Amino acid sequence: MSRRRKVGILISGRGSNMQALIEAAKDPNYPAEIAVVISNRPDAKGIDFARAQGIATEIIDHKSFESRGAFDRALDAALERHDVEFVACAGFMRVMTESFVASWRDRMINIHPSLLPAYKGLHTHERALKDGVTRHGCTVHVVRSDVDTGPIIAQARVPVLKSDTAETLAERVLDAEHKIYPRALALLVSGAFRIEGEKLTATSPDIKLPVIIPAH
Ligand code: GAR
Repeated sequence: MSRRRKVGILISGRGSNMQALIEAAKDPNYPAEIAVVISNRPDAKGIDFARAQGIATEIIDHKSFESRGAFDRALDAALERHDVEFVACAGFMRVMTESFVASWRDRMINIHPSLLPAYKGLHTHERALKDGVTRHGCTVHVVRSDVDTGPIIAQARVPVLKSDTAETLAERVLDAEHKIYPRALALLVSGAFRIEGEKLTATSPDIKLPVIIPAH
């Protein structure tokens, strides 16, 4: 097997997607290893889990920086210190500067709780319910400087039930997130596709992009 690629995970809170990536990377055949978990919030629950797993962690509190640029430079330096090659944002709730995004261009991905391009931004489940959609889901995409844009690697669809509240819908979507994020990260780091501008091209005919997990 080729060398496992070093991934840094960025979180701001609970870290359940981070946990799914850490669990996936326990398989020696998984193409990525988690080199570091970084949180911008000192109280992020996910940090405790990562520490307990023996993974390197760093807290870089955005409140102790005078500008977004200074925070992003510290983040960049921490990722470099841990020899990170790819970055996975997992509930990282900070808008990044253009220069940070540019320095990780095509090597940084994010998971978002909607079927992008629908429902960019916050409160995706509430907005989907309000609109009365029957299908919702989540997306893993390559990060571009406009928030919640960038080439889509994978999407998982879930049904919206008449009885759903934002909480029950969030739970169903989150389950789907935990399935697609490890798959999408594996595709990225194993070179399963090339990224040319906003277009992804699979490097093998067996792979169809974006990967779609249907609702069931
Ligand atoms: C997840 O639902 C993730 O998709 C969302 O935050 C939650 C984090 O949960 N991310 C965004 O909204 C980013 N725009 P987690 O900390 O348990 O992974």
